[in-house]
Amino acid sequence: MRSLKNRPIGIFDSGVGGLTVARSVRKYLPGENIVYFGDTARVPYGNKSRETILRFSREIMAFLTEKGVKMVIVACNTASSLALSAIKKEYTVPVIGVIEPGVKESLKISTNKRVGVIGTRSTVASGAYKKKLLAEEPSCRVFSRDCPMFVPLVENRFFNDPATLRIAELYLSGIRKRKVDSLILGCTHYPLLKTVIGKVMKGVKLVDSSVAVAKYVKKALEAEDMASSRKRGKTAYFVSDDPGSFCRVARIFLKQKVSARKIIL
Ligand code: DGL
Repeated sequence: MRSLKNRPIGIFDSGVGGLTVARSVRKYLPGENIVYFGDTARVPYGNKSRETILRFSREIMAFLTEKGVKMVIVACNTASSLALSAIKKEYTVPVIGVIEPGVKESLKISTNKRVGVIGTRSTVASGAYKKKLLAEEPSCRVFSRDCPMFVPLVENRFFNDPATLRIAELYLSGIRKRKVDSLILGCTHYPLLKTVIGKVMKGVKLVDSSVAVAKYVKKALEAEDMASSRKRGKTAYFVSDDPGSFCRVARIFLKQKVSARKIIL
């Protein structure tokens, strides 16, 4: 049996967005091998029901555990909000989502305990961030807003476009008025809009869940003596639809060329 340390980490997302998490994991844990799965045939998850997201997540978990991963990171905020608690109970491999690391980080950096949360419709409707924030800090005030146009804007590379700024103003003005001092970017794609979001939310600390989860995973692996001793790890990319468009967008996310294999779950 391969030693646990040398096994890969599995990361999954509805598509390319989770590459922000893969990028952070590569930065904080350079020696790890990663198996990345992007469900490009069924993206977006952000407007789908819990039942559907849970079914997709189970199929992906079966694929990743077959690959012998030592841990799974659910990079997708929507799947973390709707499916994480169920799949955690169903598998022996540790499964980590993005909600808890993002929540802990936001409470650490917030001084007035007024926290903003933005995400997809399904993430915000689930109330997962709010519940976790209140469980950790009962006195905190949480202001949430879904931003459904942000994902297509990112996928179409409208990172710093005036149209994106206008939409960000429309989405975020309500939260800004609530005097939050930290804002959780509760969607894989939003770290790519940090510049625009930062302009609208001047002075507010932005919590990038991808960085928070990578630090969290590093701690967890080291605590369990499960971190790889390799110097440099590799990433294998798998997708459920044509790899071409995934690889094109992945190049923007990762600032490097990648190749991916299509698999049918
Ligand atoms: N990955 C999703 C999330 O973080 C965003 C894209 C989608 O809607 O599938 O919520």
